[in-house]
Amino acid sequence: MSSLEPYREKWREVPGGDDVDRRVFSDNLLDLPDDEFLTRWDALAARRAAGVVGRLDPLYRDFFKGRRVLELGGGLGFDGLRFAAQGARWTFADIVPGNLEVVRRVAGIKGIAVETHLIGDDLSFDALPADYDAIFVIGSIHHVPFDIARREAMAALSRLKVGGRWIELVYPQERWLREGSMPFETWGTRTDGERTPWVEWHDVEKVRRRLQPAILKTVLDCELASHNFRWLDLEYAGMGRTIDAAKFIDLKFQPVILDGGAHVLWNFTGNKGAFFPIGRIDLRPLVSGLKPPFAAELALKVTQGLVGVGLVDAGNQYLADAEIVVEAAPDWRYVTVRCAEAPAFLVFRNRHAVSVVFRHDGTAARLSTPAKQLRRCQTVTARHRAHRLHTAKALGNDCRLLLGAPLPPPPGSRENLKPPNRLRYRLTHCVRHRSN
Ligand SMILES: C[S@@+](CC[C@H](N)C(=O)[O-])C[C@H]1O[C@@H](n2cnc3c(N)ncnc32)[C@H](O)[C@@H]1O
Repeated sequence: MSSLEPYREKWREVPGGDDVDRRVFSDNLLDLPDDEFLTRWDALAARRAAGVVGRLDPLYRDFFKGRRVLELGGGLGFDGLRFAAQGARWTFADIVPGNLEVVRRVAGIKGIAVETHLIGDDLSFDALPADYDAIFVIGSIHHVPFDIARREAMAALSRLKVGGRWIELVYPQERWLREGSMPFETWGTRTDGERTPWVEWHDVEKVRRRLQPAILKTVLDCELASHNFRWLDLEYAGMGRTIDAAKFIDLKFQPVILDGGAHVLWNFTGNKGAFFPIGRIDLRPLVSGLKPPFAAELALKVTQGLVGVGLVDAGNQYLADAEIVVEAAPDWRYVTVRCAEAPAFLVFRNRHAVSVVFRHDGTAARLSTPAKQLRRCQTVTARHRAHRLHTAKALGNDCRLLLGAPLPPPPGSRENLKPPNRLRYRLTHCVRHRSN
């Protein structure tokens, strides 16, 4: 059992309306007489409906209609009651009794049918039916440490139908970096107010790790509100197998063929443009005789630019959906590349074109919006750069992979703001929205 007490104590105080609005204590709302209570709640709910989450309603309104949805941490119920009023069959689960009491009171006054479930320290959802069509999680379970969130998420997942959706708003790593890479015990004071005991960044792979071995196919994975949030919508395709250690092949000591030349630590600054290969690992002897599917799990440190990591066949053709792009970041990134056929090579390539390919490309030149500024936004502060250099030295030439691709040219001339770069920026995001 895990005590949720410190989290219950904080979360009596919940967001009042949109992200930019003040927080309110549910108990204070409950103290109001019905008419004042409802007027206040309606005003907050209208702010929410007009805000960043409310704007996504058209994506979900029809989908939720008539379907059973379990919401984890619904706060004052703004989203759930909106969808329930439009025909969704909504269950609110929360760790704070007062929040659920507000939801029940609003629903009662408005005549909306909803169910509620108080999440106890046992993190059990066994009392609920097991035929939910979606689990909706808007900025809630990232407020407890990963191991608690994992137990809770797995218990909730047991209530979701195969083919159902896990929809979640998370705080992304970009925001954590921007706000100073604080420990999770204190970062919450920046994101959700002084009394917040915990908040952790997530991305789609971390949500997958939280729900492992569930198979989750990406429907949507996109940033919201200037990287304050990330919206994840995943289709649950059933439970996968837990990894059998006997079937786990360690790639660490496999020789790396350096296509881009023998650069120390692959700190590659070639000028051959996007898609230029950097290096590859021959997987053929390793996978021979094994049946697909395969998943390559990698810990990567990309020090500059953008690097593509993918699986190709013997003819150097990418296998379906088997490339991901990793941006430079100060930390190690954990990525998984999957494929349904036997791969021949694991390849790394430069996705950060310097100039040649697109600058002389007629199609690219027809694009009209300059975008080099966008790419410049992706570079990191001097502090992070120093940190990376330090790490590079510390790692020396050991077997871990330290990747680099060229930085964008220095800011300044109008020349640098030419249209073609937009294409490269877009490419990055297209490949991120992959399914597994
Ligand atoms: C930041 S508020 C978000 C509320 C609501 N989703 C919204 O966007 O307005 C966090 C909510 O999650 C609840 N919560 C915190 N930790 C939770 C957990 N481990 N499981 C379920 N709910 C949790 C809180 O009680 C609160 O209602």
